[in-house]
Amino acid sequence: MIPPYLSLSPSLLAKVFPFHIVFNKNREIVQAGEVLQRISPESLVGSRLEQHFQICRPRVALDFDAIRKHSRSLFLLESLHNGMQLKGQIIEVEEEEVIFFLGSIWVTDTATLGTLGVKLKDFAIHDPIVDFLFLLQAKDSALADAKHLTEELTQQQAELHSALQIQADLAEKAAVQAQKLEQAMLELKQTEAQLIHTEKMSSLGQLVAGVAHEINNPVSFIHGNITHASQNVQDLLELLQLYQKQYPNSTPEIQEKAEAIDLEFLIEDLPKAISSMKIGANRIREIVLSLRNFSRLDEAGVKAVDIHSGIDSTLMILQNRLKPQSHHLGIQVIKEYGDLPEVECYAGQLNQVFMNILTNAIDALEEDNLKCLATDTNATPGKIKIRTEVVGYDRITIRIADNGPGMPESVLKRLFDPFFTTKPVGKGTGLGMSISYQIITEKHGGSLQCISSPGQGTEFLIEIPVRQVNPVLSLLR
Ligand SMILES: Nc1ncnc2c1ncn2[C@@H]1O[C@H](COP(=O)(O)OP(=O)(O)OP(=O)(O)O)[C@@H](O)[C@H]1O
Ligand SMILES: [Mg+2]
Repeated sequence: MIPPYLSLSPSLLAKVFPFHIVFNKNREIVQAGEVLQRISPESLVGSRLEQHFQICRPRVALDFDAIRKHSRSLFLLESLHNGMQLKGQIIEVEEEEVIFFLGSIWVTDTATLGTLGVKLKDFAIHDPIVDFLFLLQAKDSALADAKHLTEELTQQQAELHSALQIQADLAEKAAVQAQKLEQAMLELKQTEAQLIHTEKMSSLGQLVAGVAHEINNPVSFIHGNITHASQNVQDLLELLQLYQKQYPNSTPEIQEKAEAIDLEFLIEDLPKAISSMKIGANRIREIVLSLRNFSRLDEAGVKAVDIHSGIDSTLMILQNRLKPQSHHLGIQVIKEYGDLPEVECYAGQLNQVFMNILTNAIDALEEDNLKCLATDTNATPGKIKIRTEVVGYDRITIRIADNGPGMPESVLKRLFDPFFTTKPVGKGTGLGMSISYQIITEKHGGSLQCISSPGQGTEFLIEIPVRQVNPVLSLLR
């Protein structure tokens, strides 16, 4: 069967191959694709090929005969007007003496199409570049989508990050607040305990001062009169002796009475009784004086006092616990008092400190002594040594040491903590040392240290200034 002869009209050809060019021997363009015509800045038909294009590949001169020899090569033409490249193939039509260039715009990204004034629909559907362009477009939009998504993701990540940051900040703030609250609670608890203790001490002080005051007057009567009474009794006894001498033979009634009252013994015993009453009254006076001195209620503010008399009053009050008793050998107090000036202080409070330290020392020694007594009858007696001295120009130290069991590191570390005690429930509140520490450091601007180790006894070292600096004056200075 003979195939039918089909030909395309130039207008159909221009549509089917929208980028083709036909030129003759003189390289005159005789026909051009529809789209190529449209986007070309100058009219193509009628002008020469080299006015619009150069041949990038193959390496061939712009000459009809030279070009026609490359009918099997891939041609790349480049527009002299806008750099647009056309890729395609040449076909020579010998009988017409023309060369067809059949090709398409060569692009590697779809964005270039717009700048050239070409749209996707301008390409012939049969042209494989269309598939390529669609792929390119799909790739571009996928890339754009991915970029957009990445941006959104980055933004969300940043938001999440900042939310997490805020959360972390809040958690940190909350933790700080909780810590502050806990600290405040602790301080409140301490203050409350100290207030209760101070109140207890002050009412105890009031009671002591009141009792001391009440006893003071009757004791003064006894003490004041006992000297006269003693003298009077002496006189009466002398008078009696005189009577006995002058009237040796008294009446039977007198003799009977003398025997009944054991006159001989009475004459011998009465001066002794009166003298021991004198000693007793003196002792009561001393105790009353110590009690008043210890409570120091009349001296609420800072006052220059004799520190030694404060220590002595405290010892006097504790006398009962220092004496030998059934369960311990007694405690020897060794005083090595230096030559101290009068020291400005809150005397009542300082006495409380001495009381706390001395009580602890006695407690420790008693405990130790009990232990010693249980195993060893030659137990060394407990000793408390009190040393005072002036240091530098304006400070004094008071050292109170005992030869008790001492403290392990674990107790020493917590010694000044409120409520820390190693004593059985009901015996110790654990406030003694914490209050003493506060009185010495905060009230007096001094320092309180403790040196102790197991088996080596314990020494407390109090250091305070001789003068209390007036805060207002010190600011002015
Ligand atoms: N001289 C000392 N020798 C050995 N341990 C001591 C001595 N002084 C203090 N301690 C230890 O320190 C602890 C705390 O003493 P602190 O005076 O504060 O409380 P406390 O005596 O137990 O109770 P209180 O409030 O009745 O004084 C004591 O329980 C004791 O273990
Ligand atoms: Mg104590």
